[in-house]
Amino acid sequence: MRPARRLFLHRTLGAALAAPLAGCRLAAGPPPPLPVLTARPALRQIVPAEWPATPVWSYDGEVPGPVLRYRQGERLRILVRNDLPQATTVHWHGIRLPHAMDGVPHLTQPPIAPGGSFLYEFDLPDPGTYWYHPHLRSHEQVARGLYGALIVEEAAPPRVDRELVWVLSDWRLDPDATIREDFDRLFDSSHAGRLGNTVTVNGRFAADAAVTVRAGERLRLRLINAAAARIFALRFPGHAPLVIATDGHAVTPHEAAPVVLGPGMRCDLVLDCLQPPGSRHTVVDEGSARADPAPVIALHYADAPALVRADAGPVALPAARLPEPDTARAVRHVIEIQGGAMGRLREAELAGERLPLQRLAREHGIAWAVNGVAMKDHAAHHRPLLTLARGTHCLLVLRNDTAWPHPMHLHGHTFRVLARNGRPTPHREWRDTVLLEARETVEVAFVADNPGLWMLHCHILDHQQAGLMATLAVR
Ligand code: C2O
Ligand code: CU
Repeated sequence: MRPARRLFLHRTLGAALAAPLAGCRLAAGPPPPLPVLTARPALRQIVPAEWPATPVWSYDGEVPGPVLRYRQGERLRILVRNDLPQATTVHWHGIRLPHAMDGVPHLTQPPIAPGGSFLYEFDLPDPGTYWYHPHLRSHEQVARGLYGALIVEEAAPPRVDRELVWVLSDWRLDPDATIREDFDRLFDSSHAGRLGNTVTVNGRFAADAAVTVRAGERLRLRLINAAAARIFALRFPGHAPLVIATDGHAVTPHEAAPVVLGPGMRCDLVLDCLQPPGSRHTVVDEGSARADPAPVIALHYADAPALVRADAGPVALPAARLPEPDTARAVRHVIEIQGGAMGRLREAELAGERLPLQRLAREHGIAWAVNGVAMKDHAAHHRPLLTLARGTHCLLVLRNDTAWPHPMHLHGHTFRVLARNGRPTPHREWRDTVLLEARETVEVAFVADNPGLWMLHCHILDHQQAGLMATLAVR
């Protein structure tokens, strides 16, 4: 691992706890320090300086948390300390890792109590743009600022002049810039989720965020939607970015306007800066929940003359090396997403009991179900939605029978997105999170090769909290 800003500041504590590495390449010398990542409250200036700083929850005092950067094949080894007033875990979103390291409370590990810690340690098999966040009360913990980028570099990355990581988020702030303490409202969880009123890029108020670019420069942008509920649809006026990766994995380079990112989703773009020196352009969000396009970040062209590129070169990433699902022999399962405001769901099962939706909502905060079953609090007694023999080729037909979009996320595996409403997708992209529009049906396929009990849930975190999650068992 390359030193990631703050992470090594804790090396004294880390060194004290570090165990010697088995098979360590270095014959002599002290063991490498064990990096520590601390979840803790902090004060951050989210909005412009006329307003006060915001009390947030952070990793190492930063929002977003430190960028963790590795090379493909390296091993991530981090001690997570919990200095929050609430139990937590860390989920490494999108990484194909062993079940015990997946960060799901009760299912894969006990929650990390306040004052406690947990050692995460696993290999990073695939290059790409990933992220980390809590998986316990994540609709509150992520909304309070707990998230960060996890980058796994390709052995031979495409040639660009500069790489930028943009972590997108939004916050529901009161006029005094504090976070509004209105988590678990049934109105939010049964509609679009708890949308914020303040969009940020890398923790900076969107309307104030800017990046200086040089005319002629080629950028690689790694976009991560870390918002609890907001779906971004980004436009880059005056620019034609090419999508080169979806959820971290190579895709045939193609233009996308807008670039749509549901919560949890990532996208790598190659952006050629072809506007004149001194000009200014604003990236805007025209996501579904907005009436007008809203500024996200500005591109300020420096006055310096344009760079002259000898060779603009290809932008495609090496093809992803993932287990290829064979649809001819895949088992097919229909997964129906039900409920929400203006939905057709009348009753659902919770912890083995069939209850009318009104009671589920009033007594349990449940608004959603998957195939007639709602899941709450990662309950370990929950019956898996599917049990698949290890190595099964699996085709999931995800049917959104609701009036709301849902970014559906599968843990431990990466799937191909094959069809939308029966029409083949042009790029059959790899993803771990796929956005289903209201009433849309999406087919995905993967090889169930990773043993464990894996979450499948909506990444609008209020929907997840209100029942929109299930598990797949791979044995
Ligand atoms: Cu990014 Cu189950 O979560
Ligand atoms: Cu949802």
